[in-house]
Amino acid sequence: MKHIKIIYILLITIFFVGCGAEENNVRIVKDFNFDWKFNLGDVPEAKVTSFNDENWRTLNLPHDWSVEGEFSIDNPAKPEGGALPTGIAWYRKTFTLPIEYDNKSISIEFDGIYRKSEVWINGQYLGIRPNGYVSFAYDLTDYLKYGDKENVITVKVDNSEQPNSRWYSGSGIYRNVRLVVAEKLHIAHWGTYVTTPEISKEKALVNFEITLQNDANLDKKYKVVSSIVNNEEFEVAQATSEESINKNSVKKQIQNFEILNPNLWDTKNPYLYKIKTKVFEGSKLVDNYTTPLGIRYFNFDAKNGFSLNDVPMKIHGVCLHHDNGALGAVANYEAIKRKLTIMKDMGVNAIRVSHNPSSLELLQLCDEMGLIVQVEAFDSWKKRKVKYDYNLYWDEWHKKDLEDFVKRDRNFPSVMMWSIGNEIREQFDSTGVAITKELVSIVKSLDKTRPVTCALTENIPEKNFIYQSGALDLLGFNYKHKDFYDFPEKFKGEKILASESVSAIETRGHYDMPSDTIKRWPPAHNAPFDGNDDYTASAYDQISAYWGATHEENWKTVKSLNFIAGTFIWTGFDYLGEPIPYPYPARSSYFGIVDLAGLPKDVYYMYQSEWTKKDVLHVFPHWNWEEGQEVDVWAYYNNADEVELFLNGKSLGSKSKQNDDLHIIWRVKYEPGTIKAISRKDGKVVLEKEIHTAGTPSKIELIANKESIKNNHYDLVYVMVNIKDADGNLVPKANNSLDFEVTGGGSIVGVDNGYQANLSSFKASKIKAFNGKCVVIIQSNGKSETIRLKASSNIGNTEKLIKIKTD
Ligand code: GAL
Repeated sequence: MKHIKIIYILLITIFFVGCGAEENNVRIVKDFNFDWKFNLGDVPEAKVTSFNDENWRTLNLPHDWSVEGEFSIDNPAKPEGGALPTGIAWYRKTFTLPIEYDNKSISIEFDGIYRKSEVWINGQYLGIRPNGYVSFAYDLTDYLKYGDKENVITVKVDNSEQPNSRWYSGSGIYRNVRLVVAEKLHIAHWGTYVTTPEISKEKALVNFEITLQNDANLDKKYKVVSSIVNNEEFEVAQATSEESINKNSVKKQIQNFEILNPNLWDTKNPYLYKIKTKVFEGSKLVDNYTTPLGIRYFNFDAKNGFSLNDVPMKIHGVCLHHDNGALGAVANYEAIKRKLTIMKDMGVNAIRVSHNPSSLELLQLCDEMGLIVQVEAFDSWKKRKVKYDYNLYWDEWHKKDLEDFVKRDRNFPSVMMWSIGNEIREQFDSTGVAITKELVSIVKSLDKTRPVTCALTENIPEKNFIYQSGALDLLGFNYKHKDFYDFPEKFKGEKILASESVSAIETRGHYDMPSDTIKRWPPAHNAPFDGNDDYTASAYDQISAYWGATHEENWKTVKSLNFIAGTFIWTGFDYLGEPIPYPYPARSSYFGIVDLAGLPKDVYYMYQSEWTKKDVLHVFPHWNWEEGQEVDVWAYYNNADEVELFLNGKSLGSKSKQNDDLHIIWRVKYEPGTIKAISRKDGKVVLEKEIHTAGTPSKIELIANKESIKNNHYDLVYVMVNIKDADGNLVPKANNSLDFEVTGGGSIVGVDNGYQANLSSFKASKIKAFNGKCVVIIQSNGKSETIRLKASSNIGNTEKLIKIKTD
C-alpha cells in the first residue's frame, strides 16, 4: 500500500475566516494543500477511485498551471488574457483519516478554482462551480472511509472555453484548500455574522448571529459561550445562550454585547477584536470558532464625500487584479502582503478588488493593515464582454455566487462597499433596472450595513438603467474626471465615488521626453498608437488611454472636488493580460503605478508626495543621455518650499510648484556627470538626491525584502537584482542575462523584470535584467538550511544568504 503522507497543520487564524487555532481545539482545520497529483489534459477516467495516478506530477497547492506554460500568440486566452496556455486539467489527492473521525462532520473548503471545477470524493460526484473566483465547500461525511482505508478526492478544472476573461485568470486550484473536521453539532460554514449597530466613544453594541448546524439524527441541547477579546487577548465582553436544536437542522442563535470605550478600527490604527465562540453539549466542548471584529463606522455624503469614524477622508485607492506577477494567480499570503505593503507605503488607504471575489488572504491583510476595501462580484451579467463570459452561467448561478460572496466577506471590517459589477452592459438598456434591483436585494438580505455600489460609465442619468433602478446606495463612475463638475446637478443628492480612474501607460525606466512627444494616446477612439518599436511606453506621466487621464489630471480633479468620495486608480500594479495599447509580444498591462515585478515606476512618488506625510523628493530620469541632448528633469516633492537643481555643481535654479502643480520641470542640456536636487523648507535642507552618469555594468547587487523566512513551504523572499557600475550607480539600460542558483531551504518560484513584452519564462532560473533591474522570488521548501542565492552573469557573480526561521 502506498504510503500516504498527510501533513496536518493547524492553520493560524490569519489564513482563514472564522476558525481559531487554540489549544484544545475540537474543530480541526487541516491544511489540505500538500501532496496532490496533477495531470494537464483531460482524463475523464480519473474520477474513478481506482484510477492509477502514480505517473502524474506531485505538487502542492495553491497551483496555477497557466503561469508554468510558454507565452504564445496562439494560446486561446490571447494577449488580453496573458497569452499563456489554459485548457483542462485534473487534480487528485489520496488520504486517510483516523478511525476517531468516524461520526464527525467533515467538509472540504476551496477558496477558489479557475474555472468550472467539478469535484468527486471516492467516485461520488459532489458538484460543479463554474465561477472561478467564489469560495465554496462540500460536505464529504457520507462518503469517507476511516482507519487505513484510502480516500480519493478528484477535481477536474476546465478553463478551455476561451476567451472567458478580459485579463489573465490563471488556471487550476490557485487558492488554498482546507479539510474541516467538526463534531455533528457545530457552527455552520461561514456560520457567524457580526455587526455593530451602535458605536459611540463610550460604548459599542455588538450583534452576533451564529448559525448552528446539527448533523446528528438526534435533537440536542446546547450552550454557546462567546467571548470578545481585545488585541491583547483580554476579555471585554461575554454572552452565553442555552437552547436546543432539532436533529438534522440548522438554527440561528443571536447574542448581543456591549463593549465599553471601544478602540475603533481605522486606516492608521486598524484595531481588531476577536469573538471566540465555544459550543457545548452538556459540559462537553463540541466546537470553537473565531470571528474577527473591527469596530468602525463610516459614511458617504453627497456633499462631503467619505468619512471614517466621523473623520473626513478621501479614498486614496487603487484597483488590483488578483495575479501576483511571476507567481500567476497563486494566492500566496506573503506575495499579497508585499503587494499591499508597497501600496500602503505609497499612501494608498483603499483597494478595489477588480472585478471578482478576492482571496481570503487579501481581506485578512486589509483588516490587519488598515486598508478599506471595495469588493466586487461581477464583470458581466447576462450580457457578455468576451465569448465565454460568465453570462453563460448567469441564470443558474448568479444568486448563489452573489450570496456566497457576501456570506464569506461580511465579517471583515475592512470591507466597506459591495460592488455588484464593473462597467456592466445592462446599464445601457432597460433590463438593467430589474437585474440591479434583484442583485441589491440579494446583498441586502445578507448585509444591510454597507452601501451597494456599481462601477458605471454612462453618465447621462436617463440613459443609465442601473442608476435608474434607484437601488444603488453609492454611484461609482469610471473615467469621468472631466464630467464630475456637473454631477451634483445631474445626480442630485447622490453619493459619488471615482470607482476607476486614470489608465495611464508606462514602462518602468523608459523615458521619452514629454516636451518633444505627444501627450496622450490615442487622440481619438481607435486611432492608431504611434508607439515605440520595443513596446515600451514613457514613464513620465504623459500617456493615457483615451478614456482615461494622466495620473496628475485625475488626482487634481478628485482632490479639488469635495463631493467625490475618492478615487481608485487603474491600477496599483501592472497585471498579466490587457497589454493595451500594444499587440503581442506585449502580454501584460502598462497601467500599473508599480511594474509586474513590484518595482515602482516614477509616478509612485507623485502619489507618495501627495498621499503621505513622509518627506519625498524624487528626481528623474536617469543621467545617461547623448551629449547635448535636451532632457526634461522632473521632480516630485513635498514638505518643502522649493527645489534647487545642480548639474555638475552648477545651480540650474530653484523651482516650486505653482497653483495645483504636482511636479516641477527643468529642461537641461545634457552633459555627463551628476545631477543633484535639494529640497528646502524655510531655508533648511529637507532632502538631497543625486543621480550620476553610470559607466558600464560591472557588478550585481542583491537586495532582499527580508533577511529570513519561515520554513513552512509558503514563505517567500523577493530579491531585487540591480546592475551597477564600478562606482555603485545603477546602469539604467543594463540588460545583462542573469543565472540564479539556490541551495538550502528555498527554491526559485519566479523571476521577472517587469518588462511588458518579455517572453521568457517566469518559472526559469534565469532572466535578463530590464532597465537595470529584475527580481527573483524564492519560496521556502521546508528545509531548515540557510538559503544561498548565487546570481551570475558576464560581469561576475554575487551571493546572498537568507536565514531560515524554524519557530
Ligand atoms: C476599464 C475596465 C478595466 C480595464 C480598464 C483599462 O474600462 O473597467 O477592467 O479594462 O478599462 O483601461
